[in-house]
Amino acid sequence: MSMPVNATQFDGGPKREPSDIVIGLDFGTSFTKTVLQDPNLRKAFAVPFDGLSHPDNRYLLPSRLMLGQNGNWELAGWESKGIRGLKVPLMKNPEKNISLQVSGKLRTNAKELGAAFLALVLRRTRIWFLTKWKEAYGHSEIRWQLNLGIPALSYDEEKIKEAFLVAARAAWWLSIQDGPVTFSLAREAAGRALHYDFFPGIDRDFINVVPEVVAEVAGYARSSFRRPGLHLIVDVGASTMDIATFRLDETSGELRYSFLWAEVNDNACHRLHRERTRKVQSELAVWLKALDRAHDHNVLGSHADYQPPGILLGDVDEEFVSRAALPIRSSKKLGNEVLMQSMSSTSIPHRSPAIRKLMAITKKKRDPNSEEWRTGVPLFVCGGGGELRLFREDVMRKVADGLKGYQWQGFRQMRLPMPDELTVDGLSEEDYHRLAVAYGLSFFFQDIGHIVPPSKIEDITVGPIKDVEELFVEKEQV
Ligand SMILES: Nc1ncnc2c1ncn2[C@@H]1O[C@H](COP(=O)(O)OP(=O)(O)OP(=O)(O)O)[C@@H](O)[C@H]1O
Ligand SMILES: [Mg+2]
Repeated sequence: MSMPVNATQFDGGPKREPSDIVIGLDFGTSFTKTVLQDPNLRKAFAVPFDGLSHPDNRYLLPSRLMLGQNGNWELAGWESKGIRGLKVPLMKNPEKNISLQVSGKLRTNAKELGAAFLALVLRRTRIWFLTKWKEAYGHSEIRWQLNLGIPALSYDEEKIKEAFLVAARAAWWLSIQDGPVTFSLAREAAGRALHYDFFPGIDRDFINVVPEVVAEVAGYARSSFRRPGLHLIVDVGASTMDIATFRLDETSGELRYSFLWAEVNDNACHRLHRERTRKVQSELAVWLKALDRAHDHNVLGSHADYQPPGILLGDVDEEFVSRAALPIRSSKKLGNEVLMQSMSSTSIPHRSPAIRKLMAITKKKRDPNSEEWRTGVPLFVCGGGGELRLFREDVMRKVADGLKGYQWQGFRQMRLPMPDELTVDGLSEEDYHRLAVAYGLSFFFQDIGHIVPPSKIEDITVGPIKDVEELFVEKEQV
């Protein structure tokens, strides 16, 4: 007999001891990643999404939904178009009406969509675990917990925190109901979850939200590959870039990790794409106008005048040019030098000041004496944008160049190491960074670390960090 879609426990006989299993759910703008952990045994499992995932990585689930003819929500795989952009509206405007053009006009909002999507992810995740790990856990009663990532820096960002918490609670409730996740059930769940005494189906304390970058650092800090000292982490996702400097210190076997400075901004893949697209479009529009003018004057131009402009985005953009298959020719052949000039002057991607500022603050005020300034500051570039040489190398070189006046050795770029404790099947070491947030989220909530507002923290001018597991945040940085 196949397992019911809303199963939460192994079937069969009486259960022995309970086992805590934490679901670390990184709800990304483009891709969702899920890691389960039994934190008491320090065993973690990455959840594959075969049949739906990115063709090169079975652990990347496209964050997309489909509404079937029957009014049931379903996960939309890589091949399907689906409804995208579920996360950004949940961050920015969770209550706003969203019209769906499916079988007539339907109105919904980001909380309902988020709840439906997360519920389907939870169902699939639990079924995968209950099927795959029956031998090891089949005799246990599973005590589920859920940590959902939020695209914010601190727990103080009430609006984002609240929207994601409500969606997470609604999602859990939805995921344990009988039958399919219908449009109307998702609406009911989102409404119910607003009430202060709403019971999602597991203890309310077992559903939490955690800033993504905090989770990412926590995962590294608890892996056996960690090194003491100062680090910089840059996570370039689809909609947000998270940057943070942090320290790890271990004294008499006790681990401490402290954030020195952090920022979440929107200089990420989608913005880069939007700005480049705009630039290319505006340059092509100039060319089209010129072509029209030539026609107005009844001048039959030369062959070259009818060719679209070559687009030279500069050396650093080779990768982009080849991916986007843009026409690129050498300037000599192009004929229209003016166009060429404006095309090549695109400066969109080099938005390094945020990172530079963060490094400068860290050096001047937070951790001036760290050994790493002399030996090279370990740098992890993570997230899908980290695949781009542009972010991985060019932007970081620009940061280092901009800080030449400081006495330091620049960065030591390192790959975020895949923890030994994580069981994966078919994920290369190089791709682990895509799962790093989900892995960090799969620890007990209370072990991930807490955050204090920056107003309560004094600048550090000498010596190492005194506070433990803290994130220093300024409101205007967000
Ligand atoms: N090989 C690659 N080359 C260039 N860009 C890539 C590559 N792989 C992924 N990307 C980009 O990375 C993005 C997805 O990265 P990631 O999974 O880290 O984002 P996310 O977690 O979904 O987003 P966010 O954290 O902002 O919510 C996509 O938007 C895609 O444009
Ligand atoms: Mg992400």
